[in-house]
Amino acid sequence: MTLSSTTPRPLIAGNWKMNGLSAALDEARAVAAGLDGRPAGARVAIFPPATLLHRLAQAVEGSFVLTGGQDCHGEASGAHTGDTSAEMIADAGGTLVIVGHSERRTDHGETCQMVAGKAQAAIAAGLEPIICVGESLAQREAGEAVSFVINQLHNSLPLSLKGQAFNIAYEPLWAIGTGHVASVDNIVEMHAAIRAELISLFGEQGETIQILYGGSVKPENAREILAAPNVGGALVGGASLKAKDFLAIVEAA
Ligand code: PGA
Repeated sequence: MTLSSTTPRPLIAGNWKMNGLSAALDEARAVAAGLDGRPAGARVAIFPPATLLHRLAQAVEGSFVLTGGQDCHGEASGAHTGDTSAEMIADAGGTLVIVGHSERRTDHGETCQMVAGKAQAAIAAGLEPIICVGESLAQREAGEAVSFVINQLHNSLPLSLKGQAFNIAYEPLWAIGTGHVASVDNIVEMHAAIRAELISLFGEQGETIQILYGGSVKPENAREILAAPNVGGALVGGASLKAKDFLAIVEAA
């Protein structure tokens, strides 16, 4: 997917992680129904587990809800038991994919180089990637948060992304699933550093690439976070599992 010249709307992305059986499709239908007929101020996407992607994409077809995968392999096909290619995600109805989530980096030892390969594979399959970065608590306490994240970003972005539609998600590890949301000051500082790096890598395009914040985003804190400079959306885990909470976050954008 190539870059559109219009100013992007914020992206509110619901990452269901390893949650959701068939019954959860009702939550996706409720999100679609909640957006029905309203010109959404934000783009809205749900990232269900791979087993639900095709059915969920069908369930929300014709609505404002976009769908995507939580990860993809860096290669187009082959002997990679258990993995999903970007093309398979597109074939199942997805238009976006999350790559480099910290749970993938930690649980599956994914390196920045692998993440860059996944982002490239996503683009090749016509998907819009969300590339995730974020520091640990130890790195933040050591005063290394910004330098770590910028280095991680630099190494996770293939330069072939130039001219393509993609997003970054800043997700401090200590804020994911913990209820400890980063302070707005922390978010503003990090997003400004990411913006500067994107401009240095991609020139003018770097000014409009969406930088999502993720980590304990809830209906109660979404408005303040989404109003901060350089915050172009939210990557929402726990609060995306219930349509009511997720829609309240969309409403705040
Ligand atoms: P959380 O997860 O909203 O449950 O903290 C965010 C994420 O990991 O994408």
